[in-house]
Amino acid sequence: MWQTLLAASQVLLGVLQGQPSSASLAQVSPSLRPGAQALAFAGLRGWARAHALLRARAARMPPAPVRSLLLLGLALVTENPPRYDAHTLTNQLVEACQRQRSTRAAAGFVNGCMRQTLRAGTLGLASLTQADQLNLPDWWLQQLQADHPTHWLAIAQAAATPAPMHLRQHARKSQEKSAVSAVDTPQAAIKNIASPLRGDRWGGGWALHEAVPVQQLPGWDQGWWSVQDWGAQQAAPALLAALVPRSDGRRPRVLDACAAPGGKTAHLLELADLDLLAIDRDADRLARVQDNLQRLGLAAHLRCADAARPAEWWDGQAFDAILLDAPCTASGIVRRHPDVPWLRRATDIASLAQQQRALLDALWPTLAPGGALLYCTCSVFAAEGPEQIQAFVARNTDAVPEPSIAALLPTSAAATETPLDNLLGEHDGFFYALLRKRPTGAA
Ligand SMILES: C[S@@+](CC[C@H](N)C(=O)[O-])C[C@H]1O[C@@H](n2cnc3c(N)ncnc32)[C@H](O)[C@@H]1O
Repeated sequence: MWQTLLAASQVLLGVLQGQPSSASLAQVSPSLRPGAQALAFAGLRGWARAHALLRARAARMPPAPVRSLLLLGLALVTENPPRYDAHTLTNQLVEACQRQRSTRAAAGFVNGCMRQTLRAGTLGLASLTQADQLNLPDWWLQQLQADHPTHWLAIAQAAATPAPMHLRQHARKSQEKSAVSAVDTPQAAIKNIASPLRGDRWGGGWALHEAVPVQQLPGWDQGWWSVQDWGAQQAAPALLAALVPRSDGRRPRVLDACAAPGGKTAHLLELADLDLLAIDRDADRLARVQDNLQRLGLAAHLRCADAARPAEWWDGQAFDAILLDAPCTASGIVRRHPDVPWLRRATDIASLAQQQRALLDALWPTLAPGGALLYCTCSVFAAEGPEQIQAFVARNTDAVPEPSIAALLPTSAAATETPLDNLLGEHDGFFYALLRKRPTGAA
């Protein structure tokens, strides 16, 4: 167990130093990775509580490697319900501390902090602030309360809860037979391990009863499935529903402006024949779009470029539809990425909103009159959603907002039985806005 604790503490050390947990987890040996991820995520879901406890125990903050181990231990020992016996956990944590040169000298201190916390029991948790209890930075909670006066608590509670694994079924392969059994179709192969997603309007989403490594999914290599939250699965159908057929009978020209790693690009191509240009400015992430399309048997034009500078990549032919899945704080996907609140600063909201504005302004002229642009962010902050779009429509009189799914607010599964528009439900948080470009000459 101490090896897994050590690996998880390395992930937390990365977060303390500003590194996303996905990057640190990629460095962990494959045999330890699933366990290390589970423990690191438990540590991140108890991050604020563990910090508060550590502040109460330590006169001075210990160096980062010791701190990350202790934060992990304190988060795990106060988990409710606990996954380990407290004394076994403490012994293994001290063992992990002794095995690492940078923490060896602090083994006594780590042991003392853990045992003091055990003795204090739940009394030790009495002074936690509301933000600590909800495991969010103070500024984050204040922003949620300002943006969602009614639903802030449900959103915060959903963010603290691990999410189920959602799949998207490849629409073009629904009649395909399994290469393994030569009998099963995707639906037959999945029905014992997953349930159809509630409120699924295009009919291809599944929730796994238990998360599994993707390679274990029947038909994964055949491209039957992609991992994608229900909220993200709304983008492609929403844009395609707004597409007007071309008068010249050609395939619609579609731009996916911030495409990597390609989840929504692939979904668009699974559902329709498109002449699709997928852009991302991050070359490594763009390579993942290619890998994903290849596994799914799909094709698009890919371009590594800054979407906010069309002069560098646009051939001047207008797009019939644009998907702008803009960079954002990711405040809607905390339940899947519990490091997000601890990697962000309050000032990020304004700087990301500025990038979103620049992207919207740059891409709008590339859209054909009568065409549709779907703007989306996986954020629940108003500045990246409704406020951004209100401001855009105010300065672009040819942009007409059309009815769409708008804001998806994550809450617990029990919150709603039937997800509908502007819904609260068991999915990630997203904001969607569909904008139609007024045809030339129309009033
Ligand atoms: C929210 S992610 C996109 C997720 C993707 N649409 C999907 O469904 O898999 C945002 C992406 O925008 C890219 N990005 C950020 N700023 C950009 C810009 N100015 N031009 C192009 N891509 C950009 C990032 O590299 C990142 O891959």
